[in-house]
This record gives sequence, C-alpha cells and structure tokens, in this order.
Amino acid sequence: MRRVYLDHAATTPIEPDVLKAMMPYFTEIFGNPSSVHQFGREAKVAIEEARERIANFINAKPSEIVFTSGGTEADNFAIFGIAIANLKRGKNHIITTQIEHHAVLDACMFLQKNGFDVTFLKVGSDGIIDPDDVKQAITPRTCLISVMHVNNEIGTIQPIEAIGQIAKEYGILFHTDAVQSFGKIDVDVDKLNVDLLSASAHKIYGPKGIGFLYIRSGVEIEKFHHGGSQEAGRRAGTESVPLIVGFGKAVEVCAERMINDFEHAKMLKERMLYKINDVFSEISDVLLLNGSVDKSIPHILNFSINSSKIEIDAEAIIYGLDIKGVAVSNGSACTSGSLRPSHVIMALGRDEKTALSTVRFSFGRANSIDDVDYAVEKFYEVVSGFVKLAVK
Ligand SMILES: Cc1ncc(COP(=O)(O)O)c(C=O)c1O
Repeated sequence: MRRVYLDHAATTPIEPDVLKAMMPYFTEIFGNPSSVHQFGREAKVAIEEARERIANFINAKPSEIVFTSGGTEADNFAIFGIAIANLKRGKNHIITTQIEHHAVLDACMFLQKNGFDVTFLKVGSDGIIDPDDVKQAITPRTCLISVMHVNNEIGTIQPIEAIGQIAKEYGILFHTDAVQSFGKIDVDVDKLNVDLLSASAHKIYGPKGIGFLYIRSGVEIEKFHHGGSQEAGRRAGTESVPLIVGFGKAVEVCAERMINDFEHAKMLKERMLYKINDVFSEISDVLLLNGSVDKSIPHILNFSINSSKIEIDAEAIIYGLDIKGVAVSNGSACTSGSLRPSHVIMALGRDEKTALSTVRFSFGRANSIDDVDYAVEKFYEVVSGFVKLAVK
C-alpha cells in the first residue's frame, strides 16, 4: 500500500548526511567534552563548531546559544528562568497568548498557580495576535512577553518584529518559540527584536532530543538544571555530542536548502488548496480552513469539519486516513485516550465540536504533488463516507 507522510510539523525523518555526521561521535569520538584529555577536547571542538554554525544561522553569538534537550526544555527554561530571576524585583506578570504550544502554555499556567499573574492574549479569527493588545496588557510588573513565531497547528506567522519593538520600548524581555519557524523561514534575532528564542532539531531533519535556547548577552536568567558547569554554567549535564553534531549538520543543510524547501512547500500547499476545491466541490461547505492562508508558512494546512453540517471526531478521520496509508494529525494533545478540542482552534472562535474535528496536513522535502493528490482523494473518501452515513 502506498504510504504518504504529511505530519512534518510533528517530526521529520533524519537527513542521511546528518546521520552520517553523527555516527563517529557514538563510536571513535566518544569523549566527555568536559574532559581535558584529547578524547574530551575532540568532542568539545565538535560541540563548539555546531554552536557557531547555529549561532551564525540566527545572527547570534555562539556564547548566546545554550543546548537543551529540545524545544520543550528551551521554552520551560525561558519562562521559569526569567520568572525566577525577576521575583526579587517584584516583577511577577507574564504576557503570552492563547495559542502557544503547551510547553509555554503549561509552564505559564504552573506559574499562575504559584503566585504569578499571566495574561493569555486572544488572537483574531485569522489566528494572528494584534501587537496593540500586547501593549495594552503591559503593567509595571511585567517581566516577560512570550509569543510564538509560527503556530504549530495552523502555521500562522505572528508579528514578532512589531511585538519585539514594543517590548524594547518598555524594557521588557521578549521570548519567542521558534520551533516551527527555525529552518523554514528567516529567523534573525536582531531583526525579530527578541531576547530569548527556542528551537528544536527534529523539526528540521535533525535528531530528536536536542534543541537550544538563545539568550541575548546581558539577559539575567536563572538556571533550570543544577549540577556541573556545562554550557557556561547555564545548563548542567554532560552534553549529547552526537545530537549536537547532528543539529549543527541539519542547520548546515537547512541553510543551503531553505529557499528551495520553502518554494516546494508553497507549491504543495497551493496544490492541496486547488485539489480540495476540486474534489470536495459537492460538499465544500463541510470543510473549514483554519487560520490565515497568506500570513502563514506554506508547510502547514489545517481544516476542521463544520459541526453545523456534520459531526465527525478528528480521531475517526485520522484513523480512516491511516488505514489508507496517509499519516496526518489533529495537532492537539491527546490525554488518556480521549481527545480534547484544540485550544488553538477554539481560540479562533470555532465551537467545541468543530474544534474536535480538526486535521492538520504538514508538508516536507520528500513530498510530491502525487502525495498531495492521493491524500486529498483519501481525505474525501473518509469525509464523504461519514456524510453519506449521516444522510441515510
Ligand atoms: C511550537 C512548538 N514548540 C515546542 C515544541 C516542543 O519541541 P520538542 O518536541 O523539541 O520538545 C513543539 C513540538 O511540537 C512545537 O511545535
């Protein structure tokens, strides 16, 4: 059976060159980078090369990159690190949005339960934050603004430069979760006006379990991991040399391919929109496109089934597609076997039942037009099957 992977926003396959670059660091070059002997020094050199490559890619200094276990840790480090560092100044207010990834959302909710004030800003029905709303939410106690660059469910790009400008004017630290934008669109910490930025390797054809937090020089942040003095004393624990080397290589490949990858994803997105219009023409009112089509990256397309026409659980669609060889996701958290409506789709103003029937398609390097056509045909078979059942 044909298999089509359209879940690249969840994770990507490792690029062969990335794996090749990592292999020697599992075997011959196995030293602990903190060791002073040659085994250690070789490992250390590899880490610093990767750090420099990644720093250059986002227009940062190598000393501003702290490797973490992924995007989740980078987000938690940013939120808790800044919150704790500011407690002594009596600054205990954070501004974020309703559409953040759970790594930011849940960290902020934890702080809220423990004495912090958190403002969760609404988005428009297009899935975009209004920078003016950020400005209005600022108080003398605000220590951090955290707004994601690209949303992982609907792909919308937030006005980070403008929000960063506001943060600068008010002297407030600004963090962005760039896990879904890093390696896909230009991410330059100076142009974006950010003080902290999170990214992850496995979304860009690198290994799982490695990411980084960019921390602008001079930013006071409390460390999250206590122990050894790795990562210039900011993140204790022996570094995973193979993963860091793989991350560096994945960034090198991205730097070469980013424009082509973007154009390729754009072509696939346009094809999917065209094909959906065509194939779903008789039941076009059943599908709702989520988020702005223009102010979004081309790698993600997200649809809900209009609950006023028919109620279908996303799970049924995803399993239905999986049986037919198409891998997609609903983009929201699945807890103890029961699907919760996506907080992102709810934030767009959709009703709960519509939010429960959300399907995310996300494109990658290896996808072709044929993959998209096949996925749309199978998507139609599954959805129209439910529509026919409902009519009977
Ligand atoms: C926007 C966003 N932030 C954070 C994360 C978490 O990254 P990681 O899987 O590396 O922990 C993800 C992963 O899906 C994401 O999409």
